[in-house]
Amino acid sequence: MKKVAVAIDGPSGAGKSTISKMVAKEFGFTYVDTGAIYRTVGVYAFRNGINPCDADSVSDALKNINIEIRHENGIQCLYLNGEDVTGAIREHIISKYASDVSAIPAVRAFLLDMQREFAMRGSVIMDGRDIGTVVLPDAQIKIFLTATDEDRARRRYEELMLKGQDVGFEKVLADMRERDRQDSSRAVAPLVPAPDAIKVDTTGNTLEESVKIIKDIISERLSAYADL
Ligand code: DC
Repeated sequence: MKKVAVAIDGPSGAGKSTISKMVAKEFGFTYVDTGAIYRTVGVYAFRNGINPCDADSVSDALKNINIEIRHENGIQCLYLNGEDVTGAIREHIISKYASDVSAIPAVRAFLLDMQREFAMRGSVIMDGRDIGTVVLPDAQIKIFLTATDEDRARRRYEELMLKGQDVGFEKVLADMRERDRQDSSRAVAPLVPAPDAIKVDTTGNTLEESVKIIKDIISERLSAYADL
Protein backbone atom coordinates (compact mmCIF):
# COMPACT_ATOMS: atom_id res chain seq x y z
CA MET A 1 0.00 0.00 0.00
CA LYS A 2 1.15 3.56 -0.67
CA LYS A 3 2.17 5.65 2.32
CA VAL A 4 -0.74 7.67 3.67
CA ALA A 5 -0.83 10.68 5.96
CA VAL A 6 -3.99 11.64 7.80
CA ALA A 7 -3.96 15.06 9.51
CA ILE A 8 -6.48 15.60 12.28
CA ASP A 9 -6.59 19.13 13.67
CA GLY A 10 -8.93 20.97 15.97
CA PRO A 11 -9.31 22.62 19.37
CA SER A 12 -8.78 20.77 22.64
CA GLY A 13 -11.41 18.30 23.76
CA ALA A 14 -12.99 17.73 20.34
CA GLY A 15 -11.98 14.08 20.66
CA LYS A 16 -8.93 14.18 18.38
CA SER A 17 -6.64 11.93 20.43
CA THR A 18 -9.15 9.27 21.45
CA ILE A 19 -10.66 9.02 17.98
CA SER A 20 -7.31 9.13 16.15
CA LYS A 21 -5.85 6.43 18.38
CA MET A 22 -8.75 4.05 17.71
CA VAL A 23 -8.87 4.76 13.99
CA ALA A 24 -5.08 4.37 13.62
CA LYS A 25 -5.32 0.93 15.21
CA GLU A 26 -8.02 -0.16 12.74
CA PHE A 27 -6.00 0.94 9.72
CA GLY A 28 -2.63 -0.19 11.12
CA PHE A 29 -1.20 3.36 10.92
CA THR A 30 1.16 4.92 13.45
CA TYR A 31 -0.63 7.41 15.67
CA VAL A 32 1.24 10.58 16.62
CA ASP A 33 -0.19 12.96 19.21
CA THR A 34 1.78 16.16 18.54
CA GLY A 35 0.24 18.06 21.48
CA ALA A 36 2.19 15.68 23.72
CA ILE A 37 5.46 17.00 22.28
CA TYR A 38 4.56 20.62 23.08
CA ARG A 39 3.46 19.46 26.52
CA THR A 40 6.94 17.96 27.06
CA VAL A 41 8.54 21.36 26.42
CA GLY A 42 5.92 22.76 28.83
CA VAL A 43 6.99 20.27 31.52
CA TYR A 44 10.61 21.34 31.11
CA ALA A 45 9.68 25.03 31.52
CA PHE A 46 7.43 24.31 34.50
CA ARG A 47 10.01 22.23 36.33
CA ASN A 48 12.81 24.68 35.72
CA GLY A 49 10.90 27.79 36.74
CA ILE A 50 11.00 29.23 33.21
CA ASN A 51 8.24 31.68 32.30
CA PRO A 52 6.56 29.89 29.36
CA CYS A 53 5.64 33.26 27.79
CA ASP A 54 9.25 34.49 27.82
CA ALA A 55 10.34 33.65 24.27
CA ASP A 56 14.04 34.35 24.91
CA SER A 57 14.30 32.13 28.00
CA VAL A 58 12.32 29.29 26.43
CA SER A 59 14.29 29.48 23.17
CA ASP A 60 17.55 29.46 25.12
CA ALA A 61 16.42 26.39 27.10
CA LEU A 62 15.81 24.35 23.94
CA LYS A 63 19.50 23.39 23.74
CA ASN A 64 19.02 21.52 27.05
CA ILE A 65 15.94 19.64 25.92
CA ASN A 66 16.02 16.24 24.31
CA ILE A 67 12.66 14.75 23.44
CA GLU A 68 12.06 11.19 22.33
CA ILE A 69 8.79 9.61 21.31
CA ARG A 70 8.60 5.86 21.74
CA HIS A 71 5.65 3.68 20.91
CA GLU A 72 5.52 1.08 23.70
CA ASN A 73 2.76 -1.57 23.58
CA GLY A 74 0.71 0.67 21.32
CA ILE A 75 1.01 3.63 23.69
CA GLN A 76 2.85 6.81 22.73
CA CYS A 77 5.38 7.55 25.48
CA LEU A 78 7.25 10.82 25.80
CA TYR A 79 10.78 11.00 27.19
CA LEU A 80 12.30 14.25 28.35
CA ASN A 81 16.09 13.98 28.67
CA GLY A 82 15.71 10.24 29.18
CA GLU A 83 12.90 10.45 31.76
CA ASP A 84 9.45 9.07 31.00
CA VAL A 85 7.08 12.06 31.34
CA THR A 86 4.04 10.40 29.73
CA GLY A 87 2.01 10.95 32.92
CA ALA A 88 3.44 14.35 33.88
CA ILE A 89 2.49 15.99 30.57
CA ARG A 90 -1.20 15.39 31.34
CA GLU A 91 -1.31 17.55 34.50
CA HIS A 92 -3.86 20.35 34.09
CA ILE A 93 -1.27 23.11 34.68
CA ILE A 94 0.84 21.78 31.81
CA SER A 95 -1.95 22.51 29.29
CA LYS A 96 -1.37 26.24 29.78
CA TYR A 97 2.41 25.86 29.68
CA ALA A 98 2.16 23.86 26.43
CA SER A 99 -0.07 26.47 24.83
CA ASP A 100 2.27 29.30 25.92
CA VAL A 101 5.46 27.67 24.65
CA SER A 102 3.76 26.61 21.42
CA ALA A 103 3.31 30.27 20.41
CA ILE A 104 7.12 30.72 20.32
CA PRO A 105 8.48 30.35 16.74
CA ALA A 106 11.77 28.75 17.90
CA VAL A 107 9.82 26.02 19.72
CA ARG A 108 7.74 25.25 16.64
CA ALA A 109 10.85 25.12 14.44
CA PHE A 110 12.59 22.85 16.99
CA LEU A 111 9.75 20.31 16.87
CA LEU A 112 8.92 20.39 13.18
CA ASP A 113 11.41 17.82 11.84
CA MET A 114 10.61 15.37 14.61
CA GLN A 115 6.97 15.39 13.56
CA ARG A 116 7.69 15.14 9.83
CA GLU A 117 10.05 12.20 10.32
CA PHE A 118 7.15 10.02 11.47
CA ALA A 119 5.31 10.62 8.23
CA MET A 120 8.43 9.76 6.23
CA ARG A 121 8.72 6.37 7.91
CA GLY A 122 5.22 5.08 7.11
CA SER A 123 1.49 5.72 7.19
CA VAL A 124 0.42 8.00 10.03
CA ILE A 125 -2.53 9.61 11.68
CA MET A 126 -1.20 12.75 13.29
CA ASP A 127 -3.28 15.02 15.47
CA GLY A 128 -2.60 18.59 16.52
CA ARG A 129 -3.37 22.18 15.58
CA ASP A 130 -1.29 22.80 12.43
CA ILE A 131 -0.80 19.34 10.93
CA GLY A 132 -2.84 19.96 7.78
CA THR A 133 -1.59 23.53 7.37
CA VAL A 134 2.12 23.39 8.29
CA VAL A 135 3.50 20.01 9.38
CA LEU A 136 2.00 17.84 6.62
CA PRO A 137 0.48 20.23 4.08
CA ASP A 138 0.52 17.41 1.49
CA ALA A 139 -1.41 14.95 3.69
CA GLN A 140 -3.84 12.94 1.56
CA ILE A 141 -6.60 13.27 4.16
CA LYS A 142 -7.24 16.30 6.36
CA ILE A 143 -9.94 16.47 8.98
CA PHE A 144 -10.81 19.38 11.27
CA LEU A 145 -12.68 18.20 14.37
CA THR A 146 -14.80 20.56 16.43
CA ALA A 147 -17.54 20.48 19.07
CA THR A 148 -19.22 23.11 21.22
CA ASP A 149 -17.18 24.61 24.07
CA GLU A 150 -19.41 22.95 26.69
CA ASP A 151 -19.15 19.53 25.07
CA ARG A 152 -15.38 19.76 24.81
CA ALA A 153 -14.97 21.04 28.38
CA ARG A 154 -17.20 18.24 29.68
CA ARG A 155 -14.97 15.62 28.04
CA ARG A 156 -11.79 17.26 29.38
CA TYR A 157 -13.38 17.54 32.83
CA GLU A 158 -14.33 13.86 32.84
CA GLU A 159 -10.83 12.85 31.69
CA LEU A 160 -9.26 14.86 34.53
CA MET A 161 -11.73 13.46 37.09
CA LEU A 162 -10.81 9.92 36.04
CA LYS A 163 -7.19 10.80 36.80
CA GLY A 164 -8.16 12.17 40.20
CA GLN A 165 -7.65 15.82 39.18
CA ASP A 166 -10.85 17.65 40.20
CA VAL A 167 -10.27 21.14 38.86
CA GLY A 168 -13.98 22.05 38.66
CA PHE A 169 -16.03 22.20 35.46
CA GLU A 170 -16.20 26.00 35.25
CA LYS A 171 -12.44 26.32 35.54
CA VAL A 172 -11.88 23.66 32.89
CA LEU A 173 -14.28 25.51 30.56
CA ALA A 174 -12.68 28.93 31.20
CA ASP A 175 -9.12 27.60 30.82
CA MET A 176 -10.04 25.77 27.64
CA ARG A 177 -11.61 28.87 26.07
CA GLU A 178 -8.55 30.92 26.93
CA ARG A 179 -6.22 28.28 25.48
CA ASP A 180 -8.27 28.04 22.26
CA ARG A 181 -8.25 31.81 21.93
CA GLN A 182 -4.47 31.81 22.36
CA ASP A 183 -3.90 28.86 19.97
CA SER A 184 -6.14 30.40 17.29
CA SER A 185 -4.76 33.93 17.47
CA ARG A 186 -1.00 33.31 17.65
CA ALA A 187 1.12 34.64 14.78
CA VAL A 188 2.83 31.36 13.87
CA ALA A 189 0.89 28.28 12.75
CA PRO A 190 -2.41 29.24 14.42
CA LEU A 191 -5.23 26.78 14.87
CA VAL A 192 -7.18 27.19 11.62
CA PRO A 193 -8.67 24.56 9.33
CA ALA A 194 -6.66 23.85 6.18
CA PRO A 195 -8.66 25.01 3.15
CA ASP A 196 -8.94 21.38 2.00
CA ALA A 197 -9.88 19.92 5.42
CA ILE A 198 -13.17 18.11 5.96
CA LYS A 199 -14.90 19.65 8.98
CA VAL A 200 -16.54 17.27 11.43
CA ASP A 201 -18.56 18.46 14.44
CA THR A 202 -18.62 15.80 17.17
CA THR A 203 -21.10 17.62 19.47
CA GLY A 204 -23.47 15.14 21.09
CA ASN A 205 -21.90 12.12 19.39
CA THR A 206 -20.92 9.00 21.26
CA LEU A 207 -17.29 8.03 20.79
CA GLU A 208 -18.39 5.13 18.56
CA GLU A 209 -20.39 7.49 16.32
CA SER A 210 -17.45 9.85 15.88
CA VAL A 211 -15.04 6.99 15.22
CA LYS A 212 -17.35 5.63 12.53
CA ILE A 213 -17.61 9.03 10.81
CA ILE A 214 -13.83 9.40 10.69
CA LYS A 215 -13.29 5.78 9.59
CA ASP A 216 -15.79 6.23 6.76
CA ILE A 217 -14.09 9.42 5.56
CA ILE A 218 -10.68 7.73 5.58
CA SER A 219 -11.92 4.55 3.87
CA GLU A 220 -13.60 6.54 1.15
CA ARG A 221 -10.51 8.67 0.54
CA LEU A 222 -8.23 5.64 0.63
CA SER A 223 -10.14 3.88 -2.11
CA ALA A 224 -10.04 7.00 -4.26
CA TYR A 225 -6.29 7.31 -3.54
CA ALA A 226 -5.66 3.63 -4.39
CA ASP A 227 -7.24 4.18 -7.82
CA LEU A 228 -4.80 6.97 -8.70
O1 DC B 1 -3.51 18.71 21.96
P1 DC B 1 -3.07 19.22 23.34
O2 DC B 1 -4.16 19.88 24.10
O3 DC B 1 -2.37 18.16 24.11
O4 DC B 1 -1.98 20.35 22.98
C1 DC B 1 -1.37 21.15 23.97
C2 DC B 1 -0.97 22.49 23.36
O5 DC B 1 0.05 22.31 22.40
C3 DC B 1 -2.10 23.25 22.66
O6 DC B 1 -2.75 24.15 23.52
C4 DC B 1 -1.41 23.96 21.53
C5 DC B 1 -0.12 23.21 21.31
N1 DC B 1 -0.09 22.48 20.05
C6 DC B 1 0.29 23.16 18.93
O7 DC B 1 0.51 24.36 18.99
N2 DC B 1 0.42 22.50 17.75
C7 DC B 1 0.15 21.20 17.65
N3 DC B 1 0.30 20.57 16.48
C8 DC B 1 -0.27 20.48 18.78
C9 DC B 1 -0.41 21.15 19.98
